[in-house]
Amino acid sequence: MGEEQPLRTDYAGTLTSERIGDQVRLAGWVDRRRDHGGVVFFDIRDASGLAQVVVDPDQLPAGRDLKMEYTVTVGGEVRPRPEGTINVDMATGEVEVVASDIRILSTAETLPFMINDRVEVDERLRLQYRYLDLRRPRMAANLRARSNAIRAMRETLDELGFLEVETPTLIRSTPEGARDMLVPSRLNKGSFYALPQSPQLFKQLLMVGGVDRYYQIARCYRDEDFRSDRQLEFTQLDIEGAFWGQDGVLETLEQVIVAVVEQARGVTIPRPFKRMTYAESMARYGTDKPDLRFGMEITDLGDIFEDSDFKAFSGAVKGGGAVRGLNVGPLGLSRSGLDGLVAKAKELGAKGLVWMVAEDDGSLRSPVAKFLTESELQRLGARFATTPGDILLIAADETKLVGTLLGQLRVELGRPKGHDELAFLWVVDFPVFEETEGGDLAPAHHPFTSPVSVTEMRDNPKAAVSKAYDLVLNGSELGSGSVRIHDPEIQKQVFEVLGISDEEAESRFGWFIKALRYGTPPHAGFAVGIDRLLAILQGEQSIRDVIPFPKTQTGADPMTESPKPVDDFQLMELGVNLRPEVRAALDGSREVPE
Ligand code: AMO
Ligand code: AMP
Repeated sequence: MGEEQPLRTDYAGTLTSERIGDQVRLAGWVDRRRDHGGVVFFDIRDASGLAQVVVDPDQLPAGRDLKMEYTVTVGGEVRPRPEGTINVDMATGEVEVVASDIRILSTAETLPFMINDRVEVDERLRLQYRYLDLRRPRMAANLRARSNAIRAMRETLDELGFLEVETPTLIRSTPEGARDMLVPSRLNKGSFYALPQSPQLFKQLLMVGGVDRYYQIARCYRDEDFRSDRQLEFTQLDIEGAFWGQDGVLETLEQVIVAVVEQARGVTIPRPFKRMTYAESMARYGTDKPDLRFGMEITDLGDIFEDSDFKAFSGAVKGGGAVRGLNVGPLGLSRSGLDGLVAKAKELGAKGLVWMVAEDDGSLRSPVAKFLTESELQRLGARFATTPGDILLIAADETKLVGTLLGQLRVELGRPKGHDELAFLWVVDFPVFEETEGGDLAPAHHPFTSPVSVTEMRDNPKAAVSKAYDLVLNGSELGSGSVRIHDPEIQKQVFEVLGISDEEAESRFGWFIKALRYGTPPHAGFAVGIDRLLAILQGEQSIRDVIPFPKTQTGADPMTESPKPVDDFQLMELGVNLRPEVRAALDGSREVPE
């Protein structure tokens, strides 16, 4: 047997004019192929990029058989491209490889779509042929960026002495507020594991176990409704530390984020990041995840209108609500554009929305101007420092609704396109609880978060503040964390306020509360959504574009066609029976029940 020939000596994307005259061997895919009267040119693409190859098919007949996405190995000499054919848009655009040898390694069928970033392809088709989609330069760049970001996280945390620990993914359910994904146990028929919504309780137990600083690149599972920034399974950078508090956590995470952004963008973002309390964020931006790339703050107008004759405004203030507004600037909206905003506000549950346009003479034109006094109008103009053309939007209602409405309009009208600028923000002092639509109390973060004052938490739970904090980037929640409860008695009291009885707490979390009784260090931590971070850094609209094999909006994988029914034998072994109506639906006789 002869020596095995290497399939390649160099990566295509690395060839520059410094290599002119060298013999190289490249291996990759046939990208673009064009015939020029006897000579064949094609681009060979590998993981590093593209290089142009020139073939004379009279010398090398294989050159005639090349089709798109065939894989080949090509040996030849690097030479300068002839005058006038240099491609400045291509990293290797000054050179080409003159083939002296071509071998087709595999052929390819006609593709369902072109492998380039210029064509728009239906996302379902992309996911059905994800392995082809991943060959596109944009997707390849996203995968590499993800790998680089995770490496930067690991390097930073290793440097700081963190221990990477794997926690189990077949567990008892942890309450993070979503539905659990369940796995039936064959050995314990009728019993189920849950897949972790996060490693929350296990990382806390690591603190009890003497692990001082923990991190994990952790896969998490949540059976929740899909949005562009949510998947059934996603990845967190999860961290926790003992004898640690909020300032330490924030400091460490800033170091991690700075390192990741340096990797991804080649810029060093300034530290410390801005901080803002939850209350301030809600008042100024109507949201707990404000996009600070632009101003357009919500302005309170209660003092101007509390005694106004315009009852829509004064009534809201007197009824304990608020009158607030935005100066959205000179958007140049037509009358119907403005009315569209009013309609949108009503869709969002508001009673109405007042618009005003600042005229050249400084006066305010509005359908409600006739109900307002000259002094009210003047104070409005001054409050918003209007210049001609500015549009004001004003809402009067229950305070929370006014905030949400104006917060949404602000983002819709002001948010910049793309993600060139990165505006990081810590939102701190979150409430302990939030009210559900049914009026019950639910943890604003999770029930293991420490309240600032236990007395206040008991006496005035709706107003109580916690030691929870969020990281926000360009208006998206990137991550959350908190100082944890390390006293089992306080933990029980939180469950009590949540209406979880002693017995229920004991049966669901007894194993955890027990651990807190054996010398638990004060501890704190955080989790960053890696998919969201990468999507923003890469300028993608959806986290699906930074996940190699994501699910569609309906939780399906069009490539493997999962999820799928399993055969009866598998179910029998697990002791699982389908409900009759589900079985009937599967047999095709009925609609699938919700
Ligand atoms: P939380 O539930 O806020 O906190 O999750 C942390 C971050 O994870 C990301 N994330 C998601 N990303 C994609 N798809 C999803 N379905 C999804 N759900 C969450 C978000 C979010 O900010 N254990 C706590 C953290 C802690 O207290 O230490 C936790 O999981 O970016
Ligand atoms: P009305 O007096 O109800 O006809 O309302 C007069 C104008 O005020 C209309 O343009 C309404 O959209 C607006 N409006 C009514 N209620 C509110 C409110 N709560 N907040 C803001 N605008 C309102």
